Amino acid sequence: MKVAVLGASGLVGSHVRVALAERGHTPLGTTRAADAVGLAQLDMADDSRFEQLMSDFAPEAVVYAAGYTWADGCENDPERSRRENLEQPSRVAAWCARHGVRLAYCSSSYVFDGVEGNYAEDHLVSPINVYGRHKAAAESAVLSATAGEALILRLICVWGRELVGKNFAYQVRQAVREGRTMRLPSDQSGNPTWAGDIAAWTVALLEARERGLWHLAGPSPEILRPDWAREIARGLGVVVPEIVAVPTAELGQKAPRPLRAGMCTGKIQRFASRAVRTPSDLGDLLT
Ligand SMILES: NC(=O)c1ccc[n+]([C@@H]2O[C@H](COP(=O)([O-])OP(=O)(O)OC[C@H]3O[C@@H](n4cnc5c(N)ncnc54)[C@H](OP(=O)(O)O)[C@@H]3O)[C@@H](O)[C@H]2O)c1
Repeated sequence: MKVAVLGASGLVGSHVRVALAERGHTPLGTTRAADAVGLAQLDMADDSRFEQLMSDFAPEAVVYAAGYTWADGCENDPERSRRENLEQPSRVAAWCARHGVRLAYCSSSYVFDGVEGNYAEDHLVSPINVYGRHKAAAESAVLSATAGEALILRLICVWGRELVGKNFAYQVRQAVREGRTMRLPSDQSGNPTWAGDIAAWTVALLEARERGLWHLAGPSPEILRPDWAREIARGLGVVVPEIVAVPTAELGQKAPRPLRAGMCTGKIQRFASRAVRTPSDLGDLLT
């Protein structure tokens, strides 16, 4: 299967690209700016470049793993978030529908308000920040453009190796290296999820020609940030950094946070049960 992976320099997209190749598929990965070998340059704002690239490659499926993923940045610049998190994926969905190409769109547990936690796929969305609102609107736009045929993959707390080492596992490693204290929210929880597990599930869902909403996440929806940091340190085999846990309300984060955004993963586990990796299995996964 020929699959275009949009955002293949990122944490999720890079793992999806590798997983596709390992399963014998032919991925074409794209990046906007990163200097990464083997990726095609594509700014999602450039429709004609997108159309040219897709018509040259002729994918059977597209995985949309791009976007403006910084929640506080989206709150500061809602217009950018609208363009990059809503309008661009909506245009890709319309293109996919026109060309009979299947689409897997990466969404987020931030479509929920984080009050109840452990959300199942059929729970009503109720975003509380700009990023979440645009992700929720993009889900609707993608499903509507593709008459419900697209895959909507909701993700949360993803960790793993990436080109720009910015995810939480790297932050913990860096804090340990610098002997720095980490100031972390005491009341934000979710399912830490290895990007490699997301990638394997994504490929399996595409191969099975599945559609609709899926929560792709690790097994534990209520892991608090400080506990996640400790688990990462243990997985890396380093000393646990000093942690100061403070309520979200005292952190001054620009975007309101859904505090219990964890997701229920029964559906994906029933579809393709995996012995998923937890941060305590981290080992050399960052190197
Ligand atoms: N990581 C998480 O914990 C998490 C949780 C929930 C949902 N998600 C969703 O999963 C998807 C992937 O997340 P991620 O963590 O892998 O993101 P990431 O590491 O920030 O990577 C984003 C990717 O998108 C590309 N990109 C960004 N803006 C672009 C644009 N305007 N045109 C073209 N390419 C663009 C980036 O390219 P450059 O590197 O060249 O800029 C990069 O390849 C996102 O849709 C995100 O909302 C992630």
